[in-house]
Amino acid sequence: MRVTVLDHPLVAHKLSVLRDKDTSSPVFRLLVEELVTLLAYEATRDVRVEPVTVQTPVAETQGIALAHPRPLVVPILRAGLGMLEGMTRLIPTAEVGFLGMARDDTTLDIITYAERLPDDLTGRQVYVLDPMLATGGTLSEAIKFLYRRGAEQITCVCLLAAPEGLERLRRELDDNEVNVVLASVDERLDENAYIVPGLGDAGDRLYGVVD
Ligand code: URA
Repeated sequence: MRVTVLDHPLVAHKLSVLRDKDTSSPVFRLLVEELVTLLAYEATRDVRVEPVTVQTPVAETQGIALAHPRPLVVPILRAGLGMLEGMTRLIPTAEVGFLGMARDDTTLDIITYAERLPDDLTGRQVYVLDPMLATGGTLSEAIKFLYRRGAEQITCVCLLAAPEGLERLRRELDDNEVNVVLASVDERLDENAYIVPGLGDAGDRLYGVVD
């Protein structure tokens, strides 16, 4: 597993505003999109490309284009949805699939409640969007699910991670090739599995509290 933490003053600035409990939902949503676009720039460093011939107004030259099939972007509902716009801004021709996974707050088990993905992901490059890598339970289940469908290379784009979650991914995914691109690795999880210092419940801060 390869973990990349983006070290950039604009990322750190936007993240600090996101963490602030007084940042409103509209500003929070906007900042998540902006941050994801910055993270996506790094996350797509290995995106597959193929050579193309381009005719400029002056001469013919060689360029590159995104290879087919296009990358598949998979936001994990609900909070991952807030990251989709920022990701597709950078790769507008990506395919998008959806995976609805939630943590049962009592048992902490992961439940898959929705799925809209191609049946066959053989050889596909997949970008998973999930803002908070906390216990790692959701992301680990999502990655295993995608590998079972045949995905070849999986890159997770997250805003924050807890060291416990990263450790769990390392333990549970052993040899599978997974990249994780992040804005920060925070201190720890608290007793409710929230990331400390974190930014609170990302879904609630994006979309409000739903009981
Ligand atoms: N999910 C969140 O939204 N926030 C956390 O801190 C942990 C999990």
